[in-house]
Amino acid sequence: MKRILVTGASRGIGRSIAANLAGEGTTLLIHGRDASALAETRRLVEKKGARAVTLAFDLRETDAVEQMATEIGSEPLDALVHNAGIAVVKPYDEVSLEEWLTTLSVNVTAPFILTQRLAPFMPSGASIVHILSIAAKTGFPGWSSYSMSKFALEGFSQAMREELRPRGIRVINIYPAATATEIWNGVEGDWPRDKMMSAQEVADAVSYALSRAANVAVENLTVASTAGTL
Ligand SMILES: NC(=O)c1ccc[n+]([C@@H]2O[C@H](COP(=O)([O-])OP(=O)(O)OC[C@H]3O[C@@H](n4cnc5c(N)ncnc54)[C@H](OP(=O)(O)O)[C@@H]3O)[C@@H](O)[C@H]2O)c1
Repeated sequence: MKRILVTGASRGIGRSIAANLAGEGTTLLIHGRDASALAETRRLVEKKGARAVTLAFDLRETDAVEQMATEIGSEPLDALVHNAGIAVVKPYDEVSLEEWLTTLSVNVTAPFILTQRLAPFMPSGASIVHILSIAAKTGFPGWSSYSMSKFALEGFSQAMREELRPRGIRVINIYPAATATEIWNGVEGDWPRDKMMSAQEVADAVSYALSRAANVAVENLTVASTAGTL
């Protein structure tokens, strides 16, 4: 029985990842805050023959993240997918300290706590996946707090890759470019959704990396629309 955790699985890229990885003999731990949206992900996962367990925790609160890790427990995970994320997009001088710190909490501190609590139980051949962004490599105007968080997660993930390498745990980093999901609803401006990738494309990249032989690591995968960064 495989056991996989996907954070931020209530919609968007996370939901597609969860649905892609669902199959007979798999338990999907699907996380998010929106109960009705999570119920829809559960339906998709169960339709593919997997068992689904929902986890509703707010990643802004470190106590909630700790509780989530406790609820997941010591039964080993075969894959831990750090997908949940938020984007505050505005000029640097308009970003509030609260927005900055919240972005750091959800996008970086939550993955840190979950990895620290859950990786010790993961077996050789297991994988930790980080859904980063092309903004983990390059700064874009208006994306300072988002890029700060993705660069930080990039640094953490690279160190984790080396710390976990001797245990045979793969650390897989995915760098999507613009993907048509609800994250863009809060972004001002005229962003062409029709030129963006679908969440399914990013999920397929995750599935590809996870489906390699256990002794092979697809370590860094950038996925972008041919239309470019938009
Ligand atoms: N879309 C893109 O263009 C793009 C490009 C590159 C990278 N990414 C990355 O891909 C990941 C998924 O993004 P998406 O585009 O699928 O966004 P989305 O549709 O907005 O989904 C975000 C997910 O994160 C969860 N989440 C947000 N805040 C949370 C909180 N405080 N506590 C718990 N869960 C929280 C949401 O669940 P609830 O609302 O139910 O809590 C939701 O499931 C993010 O890490 C994002 O940075 C996206």
